[in-house]
Amino acid sequence: MSDHKTLVTVQSPLYFTIVSGFWMAFLAIIGLNIVGGFVMPTEKPALETFAYPIEVPEVAASADSGAPVERVDIRPLILAANVDDGKSVFRKCQSCHTIEAGGKNGTGPNLHNMVGNTIGDHNGFKTSESLKAIGGNWDYDKLDQYLENPKKLAPKGTMSFAGLKKPKERANVIKFLMANTGNPPPVDAPAQ
Ligand code: HEC
Repeated sequence: MSDHKTLVTVQSPLYFTIVSGFWMAFLAIIGLNIVGGFVMPTEKPALETFAYPIEVPEVAASADSGAPVERVDIRPLILAANVDDGKSVFRKCQSCHTIEAGGKNGTGPNLHNMVGNTIGDHNGFKTSESLKAIGGNWDYDKLDQYLENPKKLAPKGTMSFAGLKKPKERANVIKFLMANTGNPPPVDAPAQ
């Protein structure tokens, strides 16, 4: 009849567990506040000073493009790059692109004379609006960003390519594109 066995009575182990649980939580919060109060003022500047040394020195903000993302400056890597290595990297592009003068457009446009030239305006290829919207010319910085991740610069672009994650690979393939461009702009010119 009676439910007294299931009631939480003062004597029951369950009651003890609940009450001591509350107390432990309470004391823990008080304790953290006290410790926190002492530690915070000294720890904040310590954290700030710690934040500076871990900046990666090779990463330079692209001041000229005003891009908020810090990027590796690809230009020194292009200067040091190797055309033959770039030709090997270009195998990843060949299923969609030809490179020789007058080469046919495939899934993607022919890439002859691409470096430094107008973005999305090549040899009668039907370019996506998203790619055209980038605007300007293929300077080295834009090419680098596009080849790293085509969807980042042209979110609705039609180049279904995951991108070249290694800066060195991008530098090499850009060198190869330069070798197949009549008059590529100087590599040390500022981004447009
Ligand atoms: C799966 C096919 C495919 C692969 C692989 C591919 N591309 Fe493309 N690429 C395209 C297509 C399609 C476009 C046109 C994009 C658009 O209009 O949005 C394009 C556009 C480009 C453009 C811009 C052309 C312009 O008219 O301004 C460049 C530069 C380019 N690709 C370079 C490369 C390089 C370098 C590689 C290899 C690392 C590569 N692509 C791999 C399909 C591909």
